[in-house]
Amino acid sequence: MDLVVPSDDLVAAWRDAHAEWGPGFHEDGFGLTADDDVESAQGFSDWVERLRDDVECTYRWIMEGERVLGGVALRHDSHEFSARLGHIGYGVRPSERGRGVASWAVREVLTLASYMGMPRVTAVCEVENAASIATLARVGGEQVGRLGSAVRFRIPVP
Ligand SMILES: CC(C)(COP(=O)(O)OP(=O)(O)OC[C@H]1O[C@@H](n2cnc3c(N)ncnc32)[C@H](O)[C@@H]1OP(=O)(O)O)[C@@H](O)C(=O)NCCC(=O)NCCS
Repeated sequence: MDLVVPSDDLVAAWRDAHAEWGPGFHEDGFGLTADDDVESAQGFSDWVERLRDDVECTYRWIMEGERVLGGVALRHDSHEFSARLGHIGYGVRPSERGRGVASWAVREVLTLASYMGMPRVTAVCEVENAASIATLARVGGEQVGRLGSAVRFRIPVP
């Protein structure tokens, strides 16, 4: 597996993964918003450019060969939502879950955080999201708080 910078060249591979998620903007880790028109070629290109130009968040796609398996986002401390939503977000396409993809990608992103000099990384997820909680536990995350239905983890940076 590789973490790859989002690119126009990957449009077909990304669309193949996108189709598995179904409608809505719930593809955690991809930075998709309701304002992104990813169905058109120009809209896809604009979205990819926005991801690449974002100086407050690093986006990577998880790839294996020609296939996009998922996405991962690392919000920097300067990001307006890093304090509330945590630094990392991730999502794996439904057909590729349960085989270690997210754990691998989160570990890679922690290494990236280390290179970037980030002293600590946090993640926030819903208490009923057992897969996400297990992923964070597997990479060494420690639960440090809970607010309503959200659990906050601190994850050691290597
Ligand atoms: C959360 C998610 C990214 C996990 O991806 P994944 O590639 O399947 O995770 P992994 O295979 O690396 O598994 C990590 C851990 O989760 C566990 N796990 C995976 N799916 C699970 C499930 N449905 N229920 C409970 N635990 C699960 C695995 O057993 C593993 O734990 P272990 O090491 O104790 O065995 C994936 O389910 C997903 O994309 N969910 C939707 C988006 C999302 O919720 N993102 C996180 C937002 S905070």
